Parts: sequence; structure tokens; C-alpha cells
Amino acid sequence: MNIVIAEDYDQMSRIAADTIAECVRALPDCVLGLATGSTPIGTYECLVADCSAGKVDFSGVSTFNLDEYVGLAGDDPQSYRYFMDQHLFDHVNIDKASTRVPDGSNPDAAAVCAPYDEAIFDAGGIDLQLLGLGHNGHIGFNEPADEFPVGTHIVDLTERTIEANSRLFDSADEVPRQAYTMGIGTIMGARAVLVVVSGEDKAETVKAAFRGPVRPEVPASVLQLHPNCTVICDRAAASAL
Ligand code: F6R
Repeated sequence: MNIVIAEDYDQMSRIAADTIAECVRALPDCVLGLATGSTPIGTYECLVADCSAGKVDFSGVSTFNLDEYVGLAGDDPQSYRYFMDQHLFDHVNIDKASTRVPDGSNPDAAAVCAPYDEAIFDAGGIDLQLLGLGHNGHIGFNEPADEFPVGTHIVDLTERTIEANSRLFDSADEVPRQAYTMGIGTIMGARAVLVVVSGEDKAETVKAAFRGPVRPEVPASVLQLHPNCTVICDRAAASAL
């Protein structure tokens, strides 16, 4: 595992965007795994600017997002599909038909989850997976648990995650209680993984996840076993290392 310490959020975002752009330039038809949340917003801003400047071409790229709330359709402003459209897809030259997010409007988990993993497999697997890190060590919506879930599945969100995500809703009551998420196996199957982490409030989580023992109670700790994982922390997030 390679841990890169950036000066601040902007530099973290720039390094992450450069890594993604390099992947796209090397493999114009690459498959990217993407994340939502506050942390990658700056990365997407850099990629939008790079694309506008003609430095990166998304026309051959396909994408799979990590997760989606169950019960939200893609045109719901709180959905992760909407987030991706707003922050990236609507502003780069990607073919929208090549962008996939689990279908939160479909309550039938069996119809959503296994086909999602099959679609990733059929696309040739994920070349580069971008991840954020939850305060409780979650990646995607793989919450602390007794075991590592393998494939894409439905999860009940923890109170801590509901509370953390409630900042984006009018109230905690409006945060969906379930989500579809890639599993740890899906994520570990990516050929390269790139984690972005910012802020002092994540410093202890960074230490537990990337310097502590590998255990499902800290889901991100499994990334220590990935053969090609880079973590980009800003100084504040790296302050407990
Ligand atoms: C988002 C996701 C989550 C976030 C994590 C950190 O698709 O899967 O695991 O990456 O909750 O979120 P932020 O970046 O908002 O702190």
C-alpha cells in the first residue's frame, strides 16, 4: 500500500485527478469505479477542467459507481446517480449509456445486485476504483461487520452513517435506511484502488484502517491486502500516522 501525503484538500484532489487522467490516457476504454461523497468532489472538478482543456478524453470510458440509496430514483437530487451527473458526467465527454450506478428505484435486491457484478465482469473488470473513507472505516456502504461481504448487496445503514449523511438531507428522518453497495470482493477485484481522505476528523480512522490489523470491523483495512492500492491523504487526515 502506497500512502501519499498531500499538503491540503486541493493538492489531494489534483493528485487523484492526475492518477485517474493517466489511467484514461493509457487505456482510453478503461473501466473506472467511482465514489460519491464530499471527498471526491474536488477530484471531479479537476477532471472536468482537464476534459474542458482537452487534456483527457472520456469518450471511450465506462464507469461503475460503488453504491446507491435504495428507494431513490436517479432523478432524485439526493441520489448518487444525480450526484454523479451533477459533478462529473454532465460536464465531460462520457457516453452516459456507459455510466452505471446501482438502480436504487428497484426494491428487488436480487434483480439489482448479482446483475451489477455480472456487468462489471462483462466489462472486463474495474481498472481503477476511486474510494472515500467513512468515519467508521466503511468503504462503499460496507459497514463494520463480523465478516467481509463479497459481492454487490443490500445493506442496512448504521446510525452513524445515517447521521453523517443527514447533512445532505433536510433531516435525518429523510435519509434512506438501506443502500446497494459493491461488496469488499467487488472492490478488491479492481486492478488498482485509489483512496482519497481529507480532514483531521478522519485521522484516527486512517490510522486504524491503514496501520492497524486487517479486520472486518474496520472494512477499509482490507485494502492493505490489495496489490495496487494508493491512499492520498491531506496532512490533516495523515496527522495520526
Ligand atoms: C460514497 C461512498 C462512501 C463515502 C464515505 C466518505 O460513494 O461509498 O463510502 O466514500 O462515506 O464520505 P465523505 O467523502 O462524504 O466523507
